[in-house]
Amino acid sequence: MTQGIFITLEGPDGAGKTTVLQELVPRLEALGKQVTMTREPGGVAIAEDIRSVILNPQNTAMDDKTELLLYIAARRQHLKERILPALESGQLLLVDRFIDSSVAYQGFGRGLDIAAIDWLNHYATDGLKPDLTLYFDIDVEEGLARIARNADRDVDRLDMEALDMHERVRTGYLAILDKEAERVVKIDASKSVEEVVEAAFTAIYDRFFK
Ligand code: TYD
Repeated sequence: MTQGIFITLEGPDGAGKTTVLQELVPRLEALGKQVTMTREPGGVAIAEDIRSVILNPQNTAMDDKTELLLYIAARRQHLKERILPALESGQLLLVDRFIDSSVAYQGFGRGLDIAAIDWLNHYATDGLKPDLTLYFDIDVEEGLARIARNADRDVDRLDMEALDMHERVRTGYLAILDKEAERVVKIDASKSVEEVVEAAFTAIYDRFFK
């Protein structure tokens, strides 16, 4: 059985998860925990190779089911090589995107069958679910505007999707939040970075350290 703490971060593009993650790590380490941070799709060499195929803006011919299966394949490899070892060694593990991204983006966003995605997620993870998921909620247009303002961030194939796809993704996240209120905590990501980091830290602290 796993001994660590498994936390995922989810949200629409431009919600600022990645920035928040970086600021969260030192605060969590100060609680005396060993913290590991990783991301999907990617996190290990094979999955990073898959990531570059998925996100390449030139891959306009990619079929929606192909896209789903590539995310799922990357997830499996990342689970085996990174997630399980980190949890087995008792780490506090923070993962930037996991199973809920497939439901929100490929399910609600692309319109693929949710039950099939749930099954594939279960197959890829052997049923492992995060202990806690922080969902960073932001208005879609505000999220996309943040990406446009961030000169350091490359625009990938998913960012280029139309506004209505991003709207459906957010609807998907809100549906997951509704369905799994125990696991998923909503964080208002429209606030300042300091406030969002504080809210994320508090959610983790209250759940595991209080
Ligand atoms: P990334 O650069 O990690 O986005 P962000 O910094 O916003 O988290 O790119 C990942 C993209 O892949 C993002 O648009 C969400 C998408 N994605 C899916 O569509 N399905 C998935 O299962 C995962 C893990 C990500």
